[in-house]
Amino acid sequence: MRRIAIINQKGGVGKTTTTINLAFGLAERGFKVLILDLDGQGNIGTALKVKAEKDMYNLLVEKEEAENCITEIAENVSVIPSNDTLEKAEIILSGQPARESILKNSMQDIRRFDYILLDCPPSLSILNQNAILFADEAFIPVSTDFFGVDALRKMMQEIETMNDIFGHECEVKMIIPTMFDGRNKTCREHLKLIKENFNGTPISEPIRMNSKLKEMPKSGKSIFKYARSSNGAHDYKKLVEKVAKQKVI
Ligand SMILES: Nc1ncnc2c1ncn2[C@@H]1O[C@H](COP(=O)(O)OP(=O)(O)OP(=O)(O)O)[C@@H](O)[C@H]1O
Ligand SMILES: [Mg+2]
Repeated sequence: MRRIAIINQKGGVGKTTTTINLAFGLAERGFKVLILDLDGQGNIGTALKVKAEKDMYNLLVEKEEAENCITEIAENVSVIPSNDTLEKAEIILSGQPARESILKNSMQDIRRFDYILLDCPPSLSILNQNAILFADEAFIPVSTDFFGVDALRKMMQEIETMNDIFGHECEVKMIIPTMFDGRNKTCREHLKLIKENFNGTPISEPIRMNSKLKEMPKSGKSIFKYARSSNGAHDYKKLVEKVAKQKVI
């Protein structure tokens, strides 16, 4: 079972879009996938029109059994969604012992999935620290611009710091350049910078700017169902293939 945090403290870089399309792309290939939404914006639940009785707040704060918080939403795809109560959770959790390991401890009996994908909030919060300590792998979507590359550096550093402090091994297994516009000089330059500066880490082909990806959340579907022949579907299909082929120890 691979536990993968889709993480970047920078907002709007494509974390949620990547989580959804990776999940459905892997599910189409027969893998069983669980999505955990750790973001109080609740974008996963809204974008996939999830109706769930229990959510991330019940799991983390009310200590509900993890199995009871999981809702199946499609063949091979399940989710623990979240909503704005999670912001309250952040405050409550900050006063608890081993507050960075609450997710890891509460999920330890869940073994029936091939992939657990965590959609993380745009912050360096306790929830993101919980994501890092739960995950064995991190995928970092990064926008192909100046602030994007800067955020990537900070995110890599944060993961290293968490690993050092807690004796944990969360490895950055994929950098995913996003919002790429090949006609734009800044995008091309920053993609080059990412390739030059982070060549010790697997880097996917860039996900291009694509209007179908922007429309997708309203549809309640993944890009493969919403616009199968779009550039967005093409780019995410390639990413899914690369991820499915990755060696895991
Ligand atoms: N490749 C793309 N081309 C065009 N629009 C995109 C692309 N990827 C994502 N978007 C759109 O950009 C916005 C931000 O994407 P998304 O919500 O996936 O980012 P995020 O990193 O999860 O944001 P947040 O940090 O707020 O959680 C959304 O409106 C989404 O539909
Ligand atoms: Mg998001």
